[in-house]
Parts: sequence; C-alpha cells; structure tokens
Amino acid sequence: MTQRTLVLLKPDTVRRGLVGEVIGRVERKAGWAITALELRTLDRETLERHYGEHVGKPFYEPLVAFMSSGPVVALVVEGERVIEGVRQLAGPTDPIAAAPGSVRGDFGTIVRENLIHASDSPESAERELKIFFPGIA
Ligand code: PPS
Repeated sequence: MTQRTLVLLKPDTVRRGLVGEVIGRVERKAGWAITALELRTLDRETLERHYGEHVGKPFYEPLVAFMSSGPVVALVVEGERVIEGVRQLAGPTDPIAAAPGSVRGDFGTIVRENLIHASDSPESAERELKIFFPGIA
C-alpha cells in the first residue's frame, strides 16, 4: 500500500544541525522516497490549521511558540506503509519513553523539543499535506 505522509523537522532539529542525520534515516529506508522538501518558518495561522485539534489544550501555546521559533524542514515522503513507518522511525512523543534507535530516543530531550512531526493516519496525512504542499496534495 503506497502512501504519502507529511514530515516536519522541527526548529530544534534545524538549530542542532540534525537535519542531515534525520533525512539520512528516511533515505536509507528501502522503498521510501522524498518527493518534496522545503525550509520554511511557520506562522501562527498555519500552525493553528495544522494543530487545530489541540487548540485549548495546556500544551498548545508552548507548542505554537516553539514551532514558530525558527525554520522547519517540511518533507513529503512516499512509500509502502510510510505513515506507520515514519512514526516508528520518530518514536513516541515523550523522548524519555522513546527507544534508542528512534530519532526521539537518540536525540530527544524534553517533550516540547521532540525533533520531528509525522502524520498519524491517512486522514491526517491528507489534511496536513494540503496545508504544507497545496500544489501537490
Ligand atoms: S494528544 O493530546 O495525545 O493528541 O497529544 P500528543 O499526540 O501527545 O501531542 C500532540 C502534539 O503536541 C506536542 N506536545 C507538546 N508540545 C509542547 N509542550 C508539551 N508539553 C507537549 N505535549 C505534546 C507533541 O509533540 C505533538 O506534536 P507533533 O508535532 O504532532 O509531534
């Protein structure tokens, strides 16, 4: 089942010089391909669309402040069961709970600065790709 997913390398990944490391992990996975890539700084409106389901939660404002604190790298990744696969590559939200070998397990420090976002379902992927790459979604 070939899928597309949206991946964001968060501002901490860019600041810490880990973009190549994380992209390398995606590229090394057989059968996956990066089909779009952009460095951009996110405004509040875009983040509100992207994280709409979390508006009003206690972590929403810190999340928006962090995600707009510097540029992110947005990627479209295509491949077999790639939605589930990139989530596994990322590891769970809380880096403390993430296994070594996952991006968050290897590099994560605190929940807010957890390096990577990946769509969590086919429905989320479709919605998020339209926000970040309207031309190809
Ligand atoms: S939920 O309520 O279970 O759906 O939330 P969760 O999937 O764990 O997290 C949703 C996104 O919010 C980020 N998050 C946080 N950001 C800043 N501070 C705190 N405390 C915090 N807790 C969760 C989390 O990294 C998720 O962002 P994405 O970009 O989807 O990974």
